[in-house]
Amino acid sequence: MVALLRITDLAKAYTSPRGDVPALAGMFLEVRGDEFVCVVGPSGCGKSTLLRLVAGLSEPTEGKVSYMNWTQAPRRAMVFQDPGLFPWLSVLDNVAFGLETQGVARDERRDRARELLKRMGLESFAQHYPHELSGGMRQKAAIARALVVEPDILLMDEPFRALDAQTRLILQEELLRLVEERPLMVLFVTHDIEEAILLGDRVVVLSGRPAHVLTEVIVPLGRPRHLTEGSHPEIEELRWRIWSLLKPEMSLAPGPRGGGA
Ligand SMILES: Nc1ncnc2c1ncn2[C@@H]1O[C@H](COP(=O)(O)OP(=O)(O)O)[C@@H](O)[C@H]1O
Ligand SMILES: [Mg+2]
Repeated sequence: MVALLRITDLAKAYTSPRGDVPALAGMFLEVRGDEFVCVVGPSGCGKSTLLRLVAGLSEPTEGKVSYMNWTQAPRRAMVFQDPGLFPWLSVLDNVAFGLETQGVARDERRDRARELLKRMGLESFAQHYPHELSGGMRQKAAIARALVVEPDILLMDEPFRALDAQTRLILQEELLRLVEERPLMVLFVTHDIEEAILLGDRVVVLSGRPAHVLTEVIVPLGRPRHLTEGSHPEIEELRWRIWSLLKPEMSLAPGPRGGGA
């Protein structure tokens, strides 16, 4: 039996004195335990809300998030746009921190953190502090901190958005390599259609707020995957197909790479 994440009729509304904001409504989605699914949608439609619900950081107003056929409750880890490293901890201790809540002993925490930094080519910066790293390296450290717990589900909320184009390409390549080493589920939110196609096995397109799933598109690229494959004509066609679905959902529609923010 395949391990699944199943989202059933999920709704989330935020209440405030200025009125209620429905962020998600009637969302259905299933993701397999070894799938890399990218989620695109207009700015403010409810993408971060969806990830927070899956992470268990927030409770739905209606519907549910369930996990089917896992041998134990799946471990989830999240990576945000802002690396959110502790400035007073070294890179090594920041990464090891991910294991602290799991009750792993200090020496083992550091060993596992060191191992992961090595896998990510950050070992020579283990004793550095976050402010001594570039933006790309900080985000790599944040990814290491998420992966060190060996998550079954990795939730990524526009993790490369703040990076320059070249650094983003390097981190995208790196992420592809990392997820190909060990099967896990990745739910990757991005406003960038191209990024969604280059990384995902499937792209889920969300409607404007309150978000529901408009459509799902299978990406016809295998793995291991290289970013250069993104220049195939069929990929170009896919990009335009997704954009034509997304555009009417955006109140301000500046162009396929604009994100509408
Ligand atoms: N904690 C919150 N309290 C009130 N409203 C919120 C909160 N978080 C998000 N929202 C609102 O919910 C909607 C969806 O937000 P979000 O999930 O962050 O969208 P996205 O990530 O797609 O840009 C927005 O209108 C936002 O203003
Ligand atoms: Mg967001």
